[in-house]
Amino acid sequence: MSVAADSFDECLLAELKTFAPELGVVLGSGFGDVADALEEVGECSFRELGGIATSTVPGHAGRFVWGELGERRVLLAQGRIHLYEGHGAREVTVLVRLMHAVGVRRLMLTNAAGALNADFGLGNLMVLSDHINLTGTSPLNGAEGFIGMVDAYSPAWREEIFQRAAQIGLGGSVHSGVYAGLRGPQYETPAEIGMLRTCGADAVGMSTVLETIQARALGMEVAGVSCLTNWAAGMPGASFDHADVVEVAKRAGRDLVKLLI
Ligand code: HPA
Repeated sequence: MSVAADSFDECLLAELKTFAPELGVVLGSGFGDVADALEEVGECSFRELGGIATSTVPGHAGRFVWGELGERRVLLAQGRIHLYEGHGAREVTVLVRLMHAVGVRRLMLTNAAGALNADFGLGNLMVLSDHINLTGTSPLNGAEGFIGMVDAYSPAWREEIFQRAAQIGLGGSVHSGVYAGLRGPQYETPAEIGMLRTCGADAVGMSTVLETIQARALGMEVAGVSCLTNWAAGMPGASFDHADVVEVAKRAGRDLVKLLI
């Protein structure tokens, strides 16, 4: 079996290559406002780029925005594609391949996640130290070879993020932890969360893991940042209103911007 090639709009691809982004960031639910901090140079919808499914989730705009953030040229994906929208692992990870095709070699993946670790607080950020892929699939299905997943999330970049957080007084609200990635779209049962806690997960969500696998297969350096938007099922205070999830992530988005600048 082989893997079908992507086909993107050549004109936009050339424009993005000329811009030469140093950093790519995929913005999860509610983090979309991070784009406001960008000195915008250009933007286009996922649809205009061709070969990319459109995101249907509230809180996900489904477009690329590029420009300067602080001193750096950044390409933001405002929104992403999810398995639970009915797409396969290749479609979910097309944004990562697009970013790689235009020169991005450092990729930050952000998401909204449920908290499993009682030491964390809602609205806090968790820098991913590792993940557990429970989606049952991989973007590398049909590709040749096997890739290692040790240090999938760059230890050096993690260290940089923690140093920056300490510098700007966010040390207490930025944690390190393991992210469990599930297919969704339903939230978990308390029994499932109990199992995930036993397995060493600190946060749970429905994205990111496949993008990380794809990015690592392409040799990109990856950082993952979760916003802990709610307590997971069975945890005291658990709640699952998507509007609340987006609202909490919006507030935490300001911290994310400070970490990025
Ligand atoms: N579970 C799964 N995905 C999520 C959650 C959750 O509790 N919160 C935000 N995304």
